[in-house]
Amino acid sequence: MDIANEEVSPSRSPRASRCELPNLPLSGTMRGMRARIVAVVCLAAVALSAVAVVTATAKTRRDGLPAYVTGWERWPKINRKPFSTPGPHSGVKNVYASKQKRGATYPNGTVIVKTIIKPGTRFVGQFAVMRKVNGRWQYIEWERPSPRARYALLAKGQLCQSCHMQARANDYVFTKR
Ligand code: HEC
Repeated sequence: MDIANEEVSPSRSPRASRCELPNLPLSGTMRGMRARIVAVVCLAAVALSAVAVVTATAKTRRDGLPAYVTGWERWPKINRKPFSTPGPHSGVKNVYASKQKRGATYPNGTVIVKTIIKPGTRFVGQFAVMRKVNGRWQYIEWERPSPRARYALLAKGQLCQSCHMQARANDYVFTKR
């Protein structure tokens, strides 16, 4: 099985990913063996790609939200009390920030979460996020129809930012204590 081992370890090479072995001059008895080796190499390649998929999706939580919001329930609130001002995000709202403002701005890596309990419901049905990456806020909002459902993307980007411009003086964040 030396050939198999040789093929498995560098199996990120194109040959392994096509699930082929070089056409070695194999004797009759070796042919069955070769088939098995191909199977092993193929399995290894599949296993490796499965690992890659897991790594890529590990950043999304089971509830559909990104991993970087984890812990928001324990972050300090930047609103004094739950509020329900009318507007684009209507319902009962709370705003949590992962980091404190330094002077006039929030540091890189800050995540601000606004939870929204929509009118007539008793669970967080909308989840709006601002996340500061390289000095710029990224805006994304998710929604779910029931407390057990996964969150799905509702809106993001420029649409959000165009309105948050109004809060520019407070680093684009409307809510303050
Ligand atoms: C038409 C204006 C408007 C648009 C569009 C808008 N927001 Fe907001 N957003 C507000 C206002 C006003 C607040 C202050 C709290 C409140 O009244 O709900 C706010 C609050 C927030 C907060 C809490 C931090 C803060 O600024 O107070 C987050 C997070 C947030 N919005 C994310 C988003 C995302 C993500 C989008 C786009 C999907 C978005 N917003 C679109 C007006 C807007």
